[in-house]
Amino acid sequence: MRTIVEPFRIKMTEPIRMISREDRQAALEAAHYNVFLLDAADCHIDLLTDSGTGAMSQQQWAALLLGDESYAGSASFKRFESVVKDITGMNYVLPTHQGRAAEGILAATRVSKGDIIPNNTHFDTTRANLQFVGGKPLDFPSGCAQDLTSNEPFKGNMDLQALKNCITEYGADKIPFCMITITNNAGGGQPVSMANIKAVKALLDEVDIPLVLDACRFSENSFFIKKREPGYEDKSLLAIAQETFSYADVVLMSCKKDGLANIGGFIACNNATWEVDFRNSLIMREGFPTYGGLAGRDLEAIAIGLKEVLDDDYQTYRHGVISYIAKHFEEIGVPIVQPVGGHAVFIDAKASLPHIPALAYPGISLVNALYVEGGIRAVEMGSVMFGQWDAAGHETPASLELVRLAIPRRVYTQSHFDYLIEVMEKVWQKRDALTGYQLDYQPQYLRHFSGQFQPIGE
Ligand code: F0G
Repeated sequence: MRTIVEPFRIKMTEPIRMISREDRQAALEAAHYNVFLLDAADCHIDLLTDSGTGAMSQQQWAALLLGDESYAGSASFKRFESVVKDITGMNYVLPTHQGRAAEGILAATRVSKGDIIPNNTHFDTTRANLQFVGGKPLDFPSGCAQDLTSNEPFKGNMDLQALKNCITEYGADKIPFCMITITNNAGGGQPVSMANIKAVKALLDEVDIPLVLDACRFSENSFFIKKREPGYEDKSLLAIAQETFSYADVVLMSCKKDGLANIGGFIACNNATWEVDFRNSLIMREGFPTYGGLAGRDLEAIAIGLKEVLDDDYQTYRHGVISYIAKHFEEIGVPIVQPVGGHAVFIDAKASLPHIPALAYPGISLVNALYVEGGIRAVEMGSVMFGQWDAAGHETPASLELVRLAIPRRVYTQSHFDYLIEVMEKVWQKRDALTGYQLDYQPQYLRHFSGQFQPIGE
């Protein structure tokens, strides 16, 4: 069958509206040309993120009523803990209010000034948390990750040779842990193969460096392994996830993605000493270890979401939707990261707008054009998010200038995606007239969230 059929029907609706082009233009100007500063009500289709924006199932909504809001030892925690233990195989599980809280705990307890932390590619909050405590996050994506047109099946893989060189250069003592992010969000949502995870773990074992998995999108990664890695085609997504986690010493997760929940995260590990450090840090920042900054009902929703996300029909539909958008973008001629990733379509803004230099932020230009044209909110993942800059005003562009259209889970229907394709086509026809942007204000960290822009030459 050609048609992608959502494996659910809709029981409750949420209105969305389209404001006029003039109003969109005015809203964008008032938001300093930064779509993060727009009101959500002014966004017709919101593809800013797939994080915490999903729709819960009837089972999740029903489970909210079972939430045990006891401060300590709640039944909801027990249910949450048991599901996380089953999937990850970890002995210790600590809930956090979202992924970056887990990152903050890991950084505060295990990273000293000058430490090196390798990853396939650090997500921006991970990088910021590590830098905040004086760590030096380094990215070692596989060579093919930079070639956006290469159809390699596992472009999220870590470059083993680069990791080896890093260990030789800095010494294992300077590396408190190594990370792998599945899927590699900052690198285009690309998956990491089981073979790569295994090989990284084997290399780290030789020098006693623990492996930390950033597992926000573990089920999407498992789906890619099932579809693309020989030997896994007949395994269940759960079995693939379990094997993936068997190579990890610590798992960090934002449950706002593959937890199918609107809030939540966790940090899980096998090492009793690390667990004590994590727990003490958690109590200071997040709350008692059996709720960790969440309500009991949130733990219930996550416990169910973590199981639903491993359903084959759900992952087949999700991947089908994203491939559908990608196929139509390709027909229009829009250069996208190949092969399409697990949670989003990534557009190559550099190739789309070659007349806009990297430090005039072609990604911001494309994002803003999509908003003005059709009320679509996307996000820049280029020099604004990942570039390096210092107080003296020196700025180094990121290696890639991408625009991400992240697809919220179980939220939009096929006609929303057809509309998106139409808007993209219109923007594409006008691309030569789009202009670059300059930053008028930027905070020290995570400037994409609150930076203020001005169009150049207007
Ligand atoms: N790691 C990865 C790979 C992520 O994509 C994110 C969040 C986090 C960690 C942090 O989790 O938001 O729960 O604190 N990514 C969102 C996104 C924000 O839009 O991709 P969080």
